[in-house]
This record gives sequence, C-alpha cells and structure tokens, in this order.
Amino acid sequence: TKGPSGLEKVVLREARGFSAEVHLYGGQVTSWKNDRGDELLFVSNKATFKPPKAIRGGIPICFPQFGTHGNLEKHGFARNRFWAIDDNPPPFPESTAVKTFVDLILKPSEEDLKIWPHSFEFRLRVALGPGGDLVLISRIRNTNTDGRPFSFTFAYHTYFSVSDISEVRIEGLETLDYIDYLRGKERFTEQGDAIVFESEVDKIYLDAPAKIAIIDHEKKRTFVLRKDGLPDAVLWNPWDKKTKNMQDFGDEEYKHMLCVEPAAVEMPITLKPGEEWKGKMELSAVPSSYCSGQ
Ligand code: BG6
Repeated sequence: TKGPSGLEKVVLREARGFSAEVHLYGGQVTSWKNDRGDELLFVSNKATFKPPKAIRGGIPICFPQFGTHGNLEKHGFARNRFWAIDDNPPPFPESTAVKTFVDLILKPSEEDLKIWPHSFEFRLRVALGPGGDLVLISRIRNTNTDGRPFSFTFAYHTYFSVSDISEVRIEGLETLDYIDYLRGKERFTEQGDAIVFESEVDKIYLDAPAKIAIIDHEKKRTFVLRKDGLPDAVLWNPWDKKTKNMQDFGDEEYKHMLCVEPAAVEMPITLKPGEEWKGKMELSAVPSSYCSGQ
C-alpha cells in the first residue's frame, strides 16, 4: 500500500481486529491499533514522511549507532534508508500461533559502506500476535568477507501514545542505575517508587529488567513492554522548551507521548563475521485493572 505521503507501507491485520503498519522507509512501524481502532503509538501531526528526514513517531530503528555514541549521524542511518520486503521469509520459530508478520531487510549501499565500512544483513521481523501483541525481532548478521568484526549500538525508539504525560507512571526502572543525558556522563541511582514525569527527561537506565510497564491512569491502559537481548532502556520526553526547536513536532504534543526505548548502548554489541545478534521487543496493551498486583 502507499500512504498519503506516497511512501510504501505494509499493513498487518490480525483476526480480532488489531492492526499495524510498517513503512519501508526506515523499516519503521508507524501505527499499531487495538481491536477498537485506537492508535497505541504516537506519530506527530507534523511528521514529514519526506526522506531524508526520519519519520517523527512510531518505532524508529536506531542502528548502527544510538544517539551520539559515535561518529555517525544521530541514531545511525537505518531510520532513513529504504528497506526491502523479503517475499519468502523463513518461518516463525518463536510461536506457531503467529501468522501475521512481515520481514524487512536492510543491507548497506555503496554509499553506506563509505560512512560505516561494514557489510551486514539486518532482518527486521514485525509481527502481530494472536492477542494483538506487537512483536519486533531484529537479527543483525556480520557479512564482512575479510574477517573483520564490527560493533554497534541499537534501540527501538518506541513512541507510545499516552492521554496525558502527567498521568503516566513507569514500573520496572526503580532502583536502577542510569545516566542522565541532560547532566553529562555521571551515573545516578533511581530512588523511590515508580517513575512519573514533571519535566524534560532523557535518561538511559542500565541493565533494565525484561519487563517494563507504562501505566496510563487516565486511559486506564497499561502497556507491557518485554525485551530480550536489549539490556538498557531509554526514557525520553522533550517537554515544552526542547519541542520549540523541533520542526516536526507540535508545541503541545509532548503531553501525549513518551518514548520508552529498549536498547543496547552501554555495552556495544560486537559480531565476528558470520555471527548474528538478535534483539526482541514485545508490546501488549491491556486494561490497567488487569495489571494490578503483577
Ligand atoms: C532519544 C535521545 O532517544 O532520542 C535524545 O536520547 C534525542 O537525546 C531523541 O533527542 C530524539 O532524537 P531525534 O534525532 O529523533 O530528534
């Protein structure tokens, strides 16, 4: 399908009515809807959908570099490349119940090899589980033929749609060590209970647990994020001031989004030729009452 932007996208639909959309540009999930048609991910009303700018919202893929942890452009180049669909993907070994998925492939172009001189194959599988869960599995393989290893950092830069950021609480990151990107490279330890939001946040929690809950009190909805192979978790909300410098982000939109990003940043991943890395994120959206006492 082609969206209004003219960019190609794949639409996944699951029997109960959940759906997801993935743009080939960026290999980026730009929509995930529940069986009532409610959008669960945030995409800015000002998102441009015009290469070479990355799409503001959904789930940008940060690879081969997260943020400014290296010499490449911020968050690497995967989010502004055109990915290809694999028409004949391998079967789904994780769960035979999953029938609705698409595999996108990214390989470096000649130009990419000039800025990051490594041959790789990145297979991104986007799947809708039978209960509407959104599953992203990344498999990155070193295909260098000259024996060279490579290292990379990575994140699923997930923009969740929330009713009101001041009504949102995160569970699963309390007591962890983190680096606050707004305060240099020093390590802090999270004190107290669940995390709430009152100002700009740009932090990376180190060695975060496999399960993180994003509780939206007003919507009475909880997102449960499960991750595997991705030790860290970034929290980001630009708040009002930062937003003013972002052309593709509305002035008030920070109230309705929160990025929670499973990532591998503190310890870059190193692959020898022929080796493959796998990083998985699974999202579900459940009524909040269902989650209490988890
Ligand atoms: C977050 C980073 O993951 O992404 C922030 O921690 C950054 O520092 C944000 O500002 C958005 O980045 P971009 O390039 O999409 O505007």
